[in-house]
Amino acid sequence: MRVAVLTTGGDAPGINAAIRAAVRTGIDRGWEVFGVQHGYAGLVKNDFVPLGSRDVAGIIDRGGTILGSKRFPEFKTGAAQDAGLRNLRERGIDAAIVIGGDGSQAGAFALTQKGFPVVGVASTIDNDLYGSEMTIGVDTALNVALESIDRIKVTAASHERAFLVEVMGRNCGYLALMAGIAGGAEAVSLPEQSTDPEALAQCLRSAYGHGKHHAIVVVAEGAHYNAEKLIQYFKEHGARLGFEEVRDIKLGHVQRGGTPGAFDRILATRLAASATERIARQEYGVLVGLINGSIGATPLAEIVGKRKTLDPSLLNLAEVLAK
Ligand code: ADP
Ligand code: F6P
Repeated sequence: MRVAVLTTGGDAPGINAAIRAAVRTGIDRGWEVFGVQHGYAGLVKNDFVPLGSRDVAGIIDRGGTILGSKRFPEFKTGAAQDAGLRNLRERGIDAAIVIGGDGSQAGAFALTQKGFPVVGVASTIDNDLYGSEMTIGVDTALNVALESIDRIKVTAASHERAFLVEVMGRNCGYLALMAGIAGGAEAVSLPEQSTDPEALAQCLRSAYGHGKHHAIVVVAEGAHYNAEKLIQYFKEHGARLGFEEVRDIKLGHVQRGGTPGAFDRILATRLAASATERIARQEYGVLVGLINGSIGATPLAEIVGKRKTLDPSLLNLAEVLAK
């Protein structure tokens, strides 16, 4: 049996732990395991490397992906998918494990529909992937955001200066909402909710007056009012809103790198081990994810094109706690 492993989406802390587990549990089953370099681009370019147990030594604590990844929109086309399939078949690969987010799993589904056995592993810092309560990298990315927010709070409190902290998440507000709750922010601005910049300004302006020691808004990059638009609004209406100073900070890719925490290392290891188990059972065309706290699987057909929603009770809690 020959199995290929690909990391196709944005890198996320914990992906290397998943590669390691896929390789070692595969070898334990007597399989040959290959890595495809640079995601779907490498699949089309025929960029494969054999992976032995020692090739994945010393990587469990490393962020990123040792296989590399690349945004490769061409893979949405039938021609690129067919080229990738040809390479897989010519090398005698029997099944593939695709580690990535919703775009990656759409690619995995396309391969499945063309008759190639694929199992997906849920990985993205955005936590927007349907079929997994938590995905590889979310917990570490959240902790990185929290460390920054805790640091920013020190200046916010010392100088009575309001801050907008923009976090990643593409079109999903999960990271911003959770960072807001766990970081004790005064407000959040999310893609899933409409934001009233006037109300936000009022909230920031009055925070210190209410006896608060800081005034922080966690802003999702995908929110209509992201940090750039809010700063612009406050600049235009600053005099009327009575603002002295608002600063904005974009955490950006800082959140994607770094050492994976225990949660991500263990989640990644369990998901990848479950992926090889499913391949052994010939349970193909599924996404392996965290479901009700346990490792489970959902058919790719059921997850592709769906959007995960935010828990409304957490949205409500964020508001109550910020008062
Ligand atoms: P993520 O997997 O983290 O969501 P992307 O959305 O960038 O990251 O998707 C990763 C890769 O998956 C893309 O670069 C592209 O090669 C492939 N991909 C994305 N959407 C599709 C699609 N609809 N069909 C086939 N392949 C896709
Ligand atoms: O999907 C992970 C993510 O980091 C998103 O949060 C962000 O919008 C996007 O990737 C950034 O992509 P890139 O690194 O290709 O600019």
